[in-house]
Amino acid sequence: MDKFLIKGGKALRGTVAISGAKNSALPAMAAALLTAEKVTLHNIPKVRDLITMSKLLAFMDAKVSVTEMPASDYVIEAPKLNHAEAPYELVKTMRASVLTLGPLMARVGTARVSLPGGCAIGARPVDLHLKALEQMGAEIGTSHGYIEARAPKGRLTGARIVFEKITVTGTENILMAAALADGETVLENAAREPEVTDLVVLLRKMGAEISGDGTSTLRIRGVEKLHGTEHTVIPDRIEAGTFLVAGAITRGDLTISNCAPEHLGAVLAKMEQAGVPIEIVNKTTVHVRSAKKLTGLDMTTEEYPGFATDMQAQYMALATQAEGTSVIVERIFENRFLHASEMMRMGAHISIEGHSATVRGPSALSGTVVQASDLRASAGLVLAGLVANGETMIERVYHIDRGYEGIVEKLQGVGADIERVHAPVS
Ligand code: EPZ
Repeated sequence: MDKFLIKGGKALRGTVAISGAKNSALPAMAAALLTAEKVTLHNIPKVRDLITMSKLLAFMDAKVSVTEMPASDYVIEAPKLNHAEAPYELVKTMRASVLTLGPLMARVGTARVSLPGGCAIGARPVDLHLKALEQMGAEIGTSHGYIEARAPKGRLTGARIVFEKITVTGTENILMAAALADGETVLENAAREPEVTDLVVLLRKMGAEISGDGTSTLRIRGVEKLHGTEHTVIPDRIEAGTFLVAGAITRGDLTISNCAPEHLGAVLAKMEQAGVPIEIVNKTTVHVRSAKKLTGLDMTTEEYPGFATDMQAQYMALATQAEGTSVIVERIFENRFLHASEMMRMGAHISIEGHSATVRGPSALSGTVVQASDLRASAGLVLAGLVANGETMIERVYHIDRGYEGIVEKLQGVGADIERVHAPVS
Protein backbone atom coordinates (compact mmCIF):
# COMPACT_ATOMS: atom_id res chain seq x y z
CA MET A 1 0.00 0.00 0.00
CA ASP A 2 1.33 3.43 -0.95
CA LYS A 3 2.12 6.02 1.70
CA PHE A 4 2.77 9.77 1.69
CA LEU A 5 5.89 11.19 3.27
CA ILE A 6 5.56 14.87 4.19
CA LYS A 7 8.23 17.15 5.60
CA GLY A 8 6.25 19.96 7.18
CA GLY A 9 6.94 23.64 7.55
CA LYS A 10 6.90 24.93 3.95
CA ALA A 11 4.63 27.89 3.14
CA LEU A 12 2.68 27.05 -0.03
CA ARG A 13 2.88 29.62 -2.81
CA GLY A 14 1.62 29.72 -6.38
CA THR A 15 -1.46 28.54 -8.25
CA VAL A 16 -3.40 25.29 -8.00
CA ALA A 17 -5.99 24.32 -10.62
CA ILE A 18 -9.02 22.48 -9.30
CA SER A 19 -10.31 19.33 -11.04
CA GLY A 20 -13.88 18.32 -11.77
CA ALA A 21 -16.08 17.29 -8.84
CA LYS A 22 -15.95 13.59 -8.05
CA ASN A 23 -19.41 13.76 -6.49
CA SER A 24 -20.83 15.36 -9.65
CA ALA A 25 -19.01 13.08 -12.06
CA LEU A 26 -20.32 9.92 -10.36
CA PRO A 27 -24.05 10.66 -10.79
CA ALA A 28 -23.37 12.11 -14.26
CA MET A 29 -21.87 8.80 -15.36
CA ALA A 30 -24.79 6.88 -13.84
CA ALA A 31 -27.20 9.21 -15.67
CA ALA A 32 -25.70 8.10 -19.00
CA LEU A 33 -27.44 4.75 -18.39
CA LEU A 34 -30.78 6.52 -18.93
CA THR A 35 -30.32 6.77 -22.69
CA ALA A 36 -29.25 4.55 -25.59
CA GLU A 37 -27.51 7.54 -27.12
CA LYS A 38 -24.02 8.89 -26.61
CA VAL A 39 -23.32 11.03 -23.52
CA THR A 40 -20.04 12.95 -23.52
CA LEU A 41 -18.79 14.19 -20.17
CA HIS A 42 -15.97 16.69 -19.71
CA ASN A 43 -13.90 17.59 -16.64
CA ILE A 44 -14.08 14.13 -15.10
CA PRO A 45 -11.39 13.95 -12.41
CA LYS A 46 -8.70 11.30 -12.75
CA VAL A 47 -9.46 9.53 -9.49
CA ARG A 48 -10.06 5.90 -8.60
CA ASP A 49 -13.81 6.18 -7.89
CA LEU A 50 -14.40 7.22 -11.51
CA ILE A 51 -12.47 4.21 -12.74
CA THR A 52 -14.66 2.03 -10.50
CA MET A 53 -17.78 3.67 -11.96
CA SER A 54 -16.47 2.99 -15.49
CA LYS A 55 -16.00 -0.68 -14.61
CA LEU A 56 -19.51 -0.79 -13.21
CA LEU A 57 -21.05 0.67 -16.37
CA ALA A 58 -18.95 -1.68 -18.51
CA PHE A 59 -20.23 -4.63 -16.44
CA MET A 60 -23.74 -3.62 -17.51
CA ASP A 61 -22.55 -3.62 -21.15
CA ALA A 62 -22.31 0.14 -21.53
CA LYS A 63 -19.34 1.29 -23.59
CA VAL A 64 -17.13 3.76 -21.76
CA SER A 65 -14.38 5.40 -23.81
CA VAL A 66 -11.85 7.70 -22.30
CA THR A 67 -10.26 9.99 -24.86
CA GLU A 68 -6.48 10.20 -24.79
CA MET A 69 -6.05 13.94 -24.58
CA PRO A 70 -7.31 15.28 -22.31
CA ALA A 71 -8.10 12.18 -20.31
CA SER A 72 -10.85 13.99 -18.44
CA ASP A 73 -13.32 13.39 -21.28
CA TYR A 74 -15.53 10.33 -21.10
CA VAL A 75 -17.88 9.10 -23.80
CA ILE A 76 -20.55 6.67 -22.60
CA GLU A 77 -22.91 4.72 -24.81
CA ALA A 78 -25.43 2.27 -23.42
CA PRO A 79 -27.51 1.07 -26.40
CA LYS A 80 -28.49 -2.06 -24.47
CA LEU A 81 -28.10 -2.92 -20.79
CA ASN A 82 -27.74 -6.65 -20.55
CA HIS A 83 -26.84 -6.91 -16.86
CA ALA A 84 -28.91 -4.61 -14.70
CA GLU A 85 -26.66 -5.42 -11.79
CA ALA A 86 -24.09 -3.74 -9.54
CA PRO A 87 -21.98 -6.59 -8.18
CA TYR A 88 -20.59 -6.75 -4.64
CA GLU A 89 -16.96 -6.69 -5.87
CA LEU A 90 -17.44 -3.14 -7.20
CA VAL A 91 -19.95 -1.84 -4.64
CA LYS A 92 -17.69 -2.82 -1.74
CA THR A 93 -14.97 -0.51 -3.08
CA MET A 94 -17.36 2.36 -3.80
CA ARG A 95 -20.68 3.03 -2.07
CA ALA A 96 -21.68 5.49 -4.80
CA SER A 97 -22.33 2.42 -7.01
CA VAL A 98 -25.82 2.62 -5.53
CA LEU A 99 -26.34 5.58 -7.89
CA THR A 100 -27.02 3.05 -10.67
CA LEU A 101 -30.19 1.84 -8.93
CA GLY A 102 -32.40 4.75 -10.03
CA PRO A 103 -31.23 4.79 -13.68
CA LEU A 104 -31.56 1.00 -14.01
CA MET A 105 -35.11 1.04 -12.62
CA ALA A 106 -35.99 3.87 -14.98
CA ARG A 107 -34.45 2.38 -18.10
CA VAL A 108 -35.07 -1.38 -17.76
CA GLY A 109 -37.55 -1.60 -14.85
CA THR A 110 -35.38 -3.98 -12.87
CA ALA A 111 -32.17 -3.79 -10.87
CA ARG A 112 -29.99 -5.97 -8.67
CA VAL A 113 -27.59 -3.86 -6.64
CA SER A 114 -25.37 -5.09 -3.83
CA LEU A 115 -26.21 -3.48 -0.48
CA PRO A 116 -23.40 -1.04 0.24
CA GLY A 117 -23.05 -1.79 3.97
CA GLY A 118 -21.46 0.60 6.46
CA CYS A 119 -18.15 2.40 6.13
CA ALA A 120 -15.61 4.07 8.42
CA ILE A 121 -17.70 7.23 8.81
CA GLY A 122 -21.05 5.66 9.67
CA ALA A 123 -23.73 3.04 9.01
CA ARG A 124 -24.92 4.91 5.92
CA PRO A 125 -28.16 3.05 5.16
CA VAL A 126 -29.95 3.44 1.81
CA ASP A 127 -33.45 2.93 3.26
CA LEU A 128 -34.65 6.34 2.03
CA HIS A 129 -33.65 5.53 -1.57
CA LEU A 130 -35.61 2.27 -1.37
CA LYS A 131 -38.66 3.75 0.33
CA ALA A 132 -38.92 6.43 -2.35
CA LEU A 133 -38.67 3.87 -5.15
CA GLU A 134 -41.42 1.83 -3.45
CA GLN A 135 -43.60 4.93 -3.43
CA MET A 136 -43.02 5.04 -7.18
CA GLY A 137 -44.40 1.52 -7.50
CA ALA A 138 -41.22 -0.56 -7.27
CA GLU A 139 -41.31 -3.92 -5.54
CA ILE A 140 -38.15 -4.24 -3.53
CA GLY A 141 -36.68 -7.11 -1.61
CA THR A 142 -33.24 -7.90 -0.27
CA SER A 143 -31.68 -11.28 -0.59
CA HIS A 144 -28.12 -12.62 -0.29
CA GLY A 145 -26.84 -9.08 0.36
CA TYR A 146 -28.45 -7.63 -2.76
CA ILE A 147 -31.26 -5.14 -3.30
CA GLU A 148 -33.61 -6.70 -5.86
CA ALA A 149 -36.00 -4.21 -7.34
CA ARG A 150 -38.50 -4.30 -10.15
CA ALA A 151 -41.27 -2.15 -11.53
CA PRO A 152 -44.21 -4.56 -11.98
CA LYS A 153 -45.71 -2.40 -14.73
CA GLY A 154 -42.31 -2.17 -16.42
CA ARG A 155 -42.23 1.55 -15.65
CA LEU A 156 -42.18 3.49 -12.39
CA THR A 157 -44.99 5.94 -11.66
CA GLY A 158 -44.62 9.50 -10.42
CA ALA A 159 -45.24 10.08 -6.70
CA ARG A 160 -45.04 12.72 -3.99
CA ILE A 161 -41.99 11.87 -1.90
CA VAL A 162 -40.99 13.62 1.31
CA PHE A 163 -37.50 12.59 2.42
CA GLU A 164 -37.40 12.10 6.21
CA LYS A 165 -33.79 13.21 6.11
CA ILE A 166 -31.86 15.12 3.47
CA THR A 167 -29.87 12.66 1.38
CA VAL A 168 -27.59 13.65 -1.50
CA THR A 169 -27.32 10.39 -3.44
CA GLY A 170 -30.92 9.55 -2.45
CA THR A 171 -32.10 12.75 -4.14
CA GLU A 172 -29.91 11.98 -7.18
CA ASN A 173 -31.18 8.40 -7.47
CA ILE A 174 -34.82 9.45 -7.36
CA LEU A 175 -34.25 12.36 -9.79
CA MET A 176 -32.90 9.84 -12.31
CA ALA A 177 -35.64 7.29 -11.60
CA ALA A 178 -38.35 9.93 -11.98
CA ALA A 179 -36.95 11.33 -15.24
CA LEU A 180 -38.41 8.36 -17.18
CA ALA A 181 -41.36 7.56 -14.87
CA ASP A 182 -45.01 7.77 -15.82
CA GLY A 183 -46.34 11.12 -14.54
CA GLU A 184 -45.05 13.74 -12.15
CA THR A 185 -42.81 13.20 -9.13
CA VAL A 186 -42.52 15.85 -6.45
CA LEU A 187 -39.47 15.47 -4.22
CA GLU A 188 -39.66 17.39 -0.95
CA ASN A 189 -36.83 17.95 1.54
CA ALA A 190 -34.49 17.25 -1.38
CA ALA A 191 -30.74 17.91 -1.13
CA ARG A 192 -29.64 21.29 -2.52
CA GLU A 193 -25.95 20.45 -3.02
CA PRO A 194 -24.39 21.96 -6.19
CA GLU A 195 -23.74 18.38 -7.36
CA VAL A 196 -27.51 17.73 -7.31
CA THR A 197 -28.11 20.88 -9.34
CA ASP A 198 -25.38 19.84 -11.79
CA LEU A 199 -27.20 16.54 -12.28
CA VAL A 200 -30.46 18.40 -12.94
CA VAL A 201 -28.68 20.51 -15.57
CA LEU A 202 -27.35 17.36 -17.27
CA LEU A 203 -30.71 15.56 -17.13
CA ARG A 204 -32.41 18.60 -18.61
CA LYS A 205 -29.90 18.59 -21.49
CA MET A 206 -30.89 14.93 -22.01
CA GLY A 207 -34.53 15.99 -22.37
CA ALA A 208 -35.80 15.62 -18.78
CA GLU A 209 -38.45 18.01 -17.49
CA ILE A 210 -37.36 19.17 -14.06
CA SER A 211 -37.96 22.36 -12.12
CA GLY A 212 -37.04 23.66 -8.68
CA ASP A 213 -33.28 23.04 -8.86
CA GLY A 214 -31.39 24.69 -6.06
CA THR A 215 -34.47 24.49 -3.81
CA SER A 216 -35.64 21.70 -1.52
CA THR A 217 -38.66 20.89 -3.73
CA LEU A 218 -37.94 19.30 -7.09
CA ARG A 219 -40.66 18.57 -9.65
CA ILE A 220 -39.95 16.00 -12.32
CA ARG A 221 -42.37 15.31 -15.14
CA GLY A 222 -41.42 11.91 -16.54
CA VAL A 223 -40.77 11.65 -20.27
CA GLU A 224 -40.83 8.59 -22.58
CA LYS A 225 -37.23 8.82 -23.65
CA LEU A 226 -34.03 10.72 -22.96
CA HIS A 227 -31.35 11.51 -25.52
CA GLY A 228 -27.60 11.92 -25.71
CA THR A 229 -25.80 15.14 -24.85
CA GLU A 230 -22.55 16.76 -23.79
CA HIS A 231 -21.84 18.16 -20.35
CA THR A 232 -18.97 19.63 -18.32
CA VAL A 233 -19.10 18.74 -14.63
CA ILE A 234 -18.66 21.50 -12.06
CA PRO A 235 -15.37 22.06 -10.21
CA ASP A 236 -14.75 20.11 -7.01
CA ARG A 237 -15.68 22.41 -4.14
CA ILE A 238 -14.16 20.07 -1.54
CA GLU A 239 -10.82 19.94 -3.34
CA ALA A 240 -10.92 23.76 -3.59
CA GLY A 241 -11.74 24.03 0.12
CA THR A 242 -8.91 21.65 0.98
CA PHE A 243 -6.39 23.81 -0.90
CA LEU A 244 -7.78 26.97 0.71
CA VAL A 245 -7.01 25.42 4.09
CA ALA A 246 -3.58 24.31 2.79
CA GLY A 247 -2.78 27.93 1.93
CA ALA A 248 -4.03 29.20 5.28
CA ILE A 249 -2.51 26.52 7.50
CA THR A 250 0.98 26.85 5.99
CA ARG A 251 0.80 30.67 6.18
CA GLY A 252 1.25 30.70 2.42
CA ASP A 253 -0.07 32.64 -0.54
CA LEU A 254 -2.17 30.50 -2.87
CA THR A 255 -4.32 31.17 -5.88
CA ILE A 256 -6.99 28.53 -6.39
CA SER A 257 -8.08 28.54 -10.03
CA ASN A 258 -10.73 26.63 -12.06
CA CYS A 259 -13.00 26.59 -9.01
CA ALA A 260 -16.51 27.90 -8.33
CA PRO A 261 -16.34 30.38 -5.42
CA GLU A 262 -20.16 30.55 -5.44
CA HIS A 263 -20.21 26.96 -4.07
CA LEU A 264 -17.74 27.74 -1.28
CA GLY A 265 -19.85 30.23 0.71
CA ALA A 266 -19.86 28.57 4.14
CA VAL A 267 -16.16 27.61 3.99
CA LEU A 268 -15.06 31.07 2.84
CA ALA A 269 -17.18 32.76 5.51
CA LYS A 270 -15.83 30.59 8.32
CA MET A 271 -12.22 31.02 7.25
CA GLU A 272 -12.60 34.78 6.94
CA GLN A 273 -14.15 34.93 10.43
CA ALA A 274 -11.15 32.96 11.70
CA GLY A 275 -8.93 35.74 10.33
CA VAL A 276 -7.78 34.26 7.01
CA PRO A 277 -7.55 36.93 4.28
CA ILE A 278 -9.47 35.63 1.27
CA GLU A 279 -10.22 37.42 -1.97
CA ILE A 280 -12.65 36.21 -4.61
CA VAL A 281 -10.69 37.29 -7.68
CA ASN A 282 -13.32 36.33 -10.25
CA LYS A 283 -15.96 33.67 -10.97
CA THR A 284 -13.37 30.88 -11.07
CA THR A 285 -10.54 32.08 -8.84
CA VAL A 286 -9.96 32.60 -5.12
CA HIS A 287 -6.82 33.90 -3.46
CA VAL A 288 -5.83 32.98 0.11
CA ARG A 289 -3.07 34.63 2.15
CA SER A 290 -1.50 34.17 5.54
CA ALA A 291 -3.56 35.28 8.55
CA LYS A 292 -2.01 37.85 10.90
CA LYS A 293 -3.83 36.07 13.69
CA LEU A 294 -5.77 32.82 13.31
CA THR A 295 -8.63 32.56 15.80
CA GLY A 296 -10.44 29.38 16.82
CA LEU A 297 -14.12 29.32 15.84
CA ASP A 298 -16.98 26.89 16.42
CA MET A 299 -18.35 25.06 13.39
CA THR A 300 -21.25 22.69 12.82
CA THR A 301 -21.54 20.57 9.68
CA GLU A 302 -24.80 20.90 7.79
CA GLU A 303 -26.36 20.08 4.48
CA TYR A 304 -25.66 22.61 1.69
CA PRO A 305 -25.57 25.59 1.87
CA GLY A 306 -24.19 24.90 5.36
CA PHE A 307 -20.61 23.87 6.12
CA ALA A 308 -19.95 20.53 4.35
CA THR A 309 -19.15 17.43 6.39
CA ASP A 310 -16.61 16.67 3.65
CA MET A 311 -14.60 19.72 4.86
CA GLN A 312 -14.79 18.91 8.58
CA ALA A 313 -11.46 17.06 8.91
CA GLN A 314 -9.65 19.81 7.00
CA TYR A 315 -11.26 22.48 9.21
CA MET A 316 -10.15 20.52 12.27
CA ALA A 317 -6.55 20.58 11.03
CA LEU A 318 -6.83 24.38 10.70
CA ALA A 319 -8.38 24.67 14.17
CA THR A 320 -5.32 22.98 15.72
CA GLN A 321 -3.31 26.01 14.53
CA ALA A 322 -5.81 28.66 15.67
CA GLU A 323 -5.68 30.52 18.96
CA GLY A 324 -8.40 29.53 21.38
CA THR A 325 -11.13 26.93 21.37
CA SER A 326 -13.05 25.60 18.39
CA VAL A 327 -16.03 23.34 19.04
CA ILE A 328 -16.67 21.25 15.93
CA VAL A 329 -20.03 19.48 15.77
CA GLU A 330 -20.55 16.73 13.18
CA ARG A 331 -24.25 16.52 12.37
CA ILE A 332 -24.27 14.44 9.18
CA PHE A 333 -22.37 11.25 10.01
CA GLU A 334 -22.16 9.49 13.36
CA ASN A 335 -18.51 8.42 13.26
CA ARG A 336 -16.57 11.03 11.38
CA PHE A 337 -13.87 11.94 13.91
CA LEU A 338 -11.35 9.16 13.27
CA HIS A 339 -8.79 11.71 12.06
CA ALA A 340 -8.97 13.47 15.45
CA SER A 341 -7.19 10.66 17.30
CA GLU A 342 -4.44 10.66 14.65
CA MET A 343 -4.09 14.45 14.96
CA MET A 344 -3.83 14.00 18.74
CA ARG A 345 -0.95 11.58 18.16
CA MET A 346 0.70 14.48 16.31
CA GLY A 347 0.28 16.71 19.38
CA ALA A 348 -3.13 18.32 18.78
CA HIS A 349 -5.31 19.04 21.82
CA ILE A 350 -8.70 17.62 20.95
CA SER A 351 -11.37 16.08 23.15
CA ILE A 352 -14.33 14.23 21.72
CA GLU A 353 -17.73 13.87 23.29
CA GLY A 354 -20.33 12.25 21.09
CA HIS A 355 -20.79 14.34 17.97
CA SER A 356 -18.70 17.19 19.28
CA ALA A 357 -14.93 17.73 19.14
CA THR A 358 -13.29 20.51 21.14
CA VAL A 359 -9.99 21.67 19.69
CA ARG A 360 -7.69 23.85 21.79
CA GLY A 361 -5.02 25.63 19.84
CA PRO A 362 -2.54 26.51 18.73
CA SER A 363 -0.57 23.28 19.05
CA ALA A 364 2.90 22.65 17.70
CA LEU A 365 2.29 19.45 15.74
CA SER A 366 5.07 16.95 15.33
CA GLY A 367 5.36 14.45 12.52
CA THR A 368 4.79 10.73 13.08
CA VAL A 369 3.22 7.74 11.32
CA VAL A 370 -0.55 8.17 10.99
CA GLN A 371 -3.33 6.13 9.41
CA ALA A 372 -5.86 7.53 6.95
CA SER A 373 -9.35 6.15 7.68
CA ASP A 374 -11.42 7.67 4.87
CA LEU A 375 -11.08 10.10 1.99
CA ARG A 376 -11.56 13.41 3.79
CA ALA A 377 -9.82 12.24 6.99
CA SER A 378 -6.78 11.62 4.78
CA ALA A 379 -6.97 15.19 3.50
CA GLY A 380 -7.11 16.46 7.09
CA LEU A 381 -3.98 14.47 7.94
CA VAL A 382 -2.13 15.76 4.87
CA LEU A 383 -2.90 19.31 6.02
CA ALA A 384 -1.70 18.53 9.55
CA GLY A 385 1.46 17.01 8.06
CA LEU A 386 2.12 20.19 6.07
CA VAL A 387 2.52 22.22 9.29
CA ALA A 388 3.98 19.53 11.51
CA ASN A 389 7.54 19.65 12.62
CA GLY A 390 9.61 16.89 10.97
CA GLU A 391 8.35 13.94 8.95
CA THR A 392 4.77 12.68 8.76
CA MET A 393 4.14 9.34 7.12
CA ILE A 394 0.51 8.82 6.10
CA GLU A 395 -0.50 5.21 5.60
CA ARG A 396 -3.47 3.83 3.65
CA VAL A 397 -3.52 6.70 1.16
CA TYR A 398 -5.61 4.59 -1.22
CA HIS A 399 -8.46 6.47 0.45
CA ILE A 400 -7.18 9.82 -0.83
CA ASP A 401 -6.58 8.40 -4.33
CA ARG A 402 -10.33 7.69 -4.51
CA GLY A 403 -11.16 11.37 -4.67
CA TYR A 404 -8.25 13.81 -5.05
CA GLU A 405 -6.69 14.05 -8.51
CA GLY A 406 -2.87 14.24 -8.37
CA ILE A 407 -2.79 15.66 -4.85
CA VAL A 408 0.93 14.96 -4.43
CA GLU A 409 1.84 16.66 -7.71
CA LYS A 410 -0.48 19.61 -7.05
CA LEU A 411 1.02 20.17 -3.59
CA GLN A 412 4.57 19.78 -4.91
CA GLY A 413 3.72 22.36 -7.58
CA VAL A 414 3.14 24.99 -4.87
CA GLY A 415 6.19 24.13 -2.83
CA ALA A 416 5.15 21.35 -0.44
CA ASP A 417 7.72 18.73 0.50
CA ILE A 418 5.56 15.65 -0.08
CA GLU A 419 6.24 12.41 -1.89
CA ARG A 420 4.44 9.19 -2.58
CA VAL A 421 6.24 6.17 -1.24
CA HIS A 422 5.23 3.23 -3.40
CA ALA A 423 4.49 -0.08 -1.78
CA PRO A 424 7.14 -2.66 -2.62
CA VAL A 425 6.00 -5.05 -5.33
CA SER A 426 5.66 -8.46 -3.70
C1 EPZ B 1 -22.89 12.08 -0.29
O1 EPZ B 1 -23.00 10.82 0.35
C2 EPZ B 1 -21.45 12.22 -0.71
N1 EPZ B 1 -21.12 11.16 -1.65
C3 EPZ B 1 -20.54 12.17 0.52
O2 EPZ B 1 -19.21 12.40 0.10
C4 EPZ B 1 -20.95 13.30 1.49
O3 EPZ B 1 -20.21 13.20 2.67
C5 EPZ B 1 -22.45 13.17 1.82
O4 EPZ B 1 -23.24 13.13 0.60
C6 EPZ B 1 -22.98 14.31 2.69
O5 EPZ B 1 -22.75 15.52 2.05
C7 EPZ B 1 -21.43 11.31 -2.95
O6 EPZ B 1 -21.99 12.31 -3.38
C8 EPZ B 1 -21.02 10.21 -3.87
P1 EPZ B 1 -26.34 11.25 2.39
P2 EPZ B 1 -24.43 10.17 0.63
O7 EPZ B 1 -27.27 10.22 1.83
O8 EPZ B 1 -25.36 10.58 -0.43
C9 EPZ B 1 -28.33 9.30 6.26
C10 EPZ B 1 -16.90 11.96 0.07
O9 EPZ B 1 -15.97 11.93 0.92
N2 EPZ B 1 -29.12 8.47 5.33
O10 EPZ B 1 -26.59 12.67 2.06
O11 EPZ B 1 -24.22 8.72 0.85
C11 EPZ B 1 -26.85 8.98 6.20
O12 EPZ B 1 -26.51 7.85 6.96
C12 EPZ B 1 -18.24 11.38 0.42
O13 EPZ B 1 -16.76 12.41 -1.08
C13 EPZ B 1 -30.08 7.61 5.82
O14 EPZ B 1 -30.28 7.49 7.05
O15 EPZ B 1 -24.83 10.87 1.97
C14 EPZ B 1 -26.24 10.27 6.71
O16 EPZ B 1 -26.26 10.29 8.09
C15 EPZ B 1 -18.29 10.73 1.76
N3 EPZ B 1 -30.78 6.83 4.93
C16 EPZ B 1 -27.18 11.33 6.15
O17 EPZ B 1 -28.41 10.65 5.86
C17 EPZ B 1 -30.61 6.92 3.59
O18 EPZ B 1 -31.28 6.20 2.84
C18 EPZ B 1 -26.71 12.04 4.88
O19 EPZ B 1 -26.26 11.06 3.95
C19 EPZ B 1 -29.64 7.83 3.09
C20 EPZ B 1 -28.92 8.60 3.99
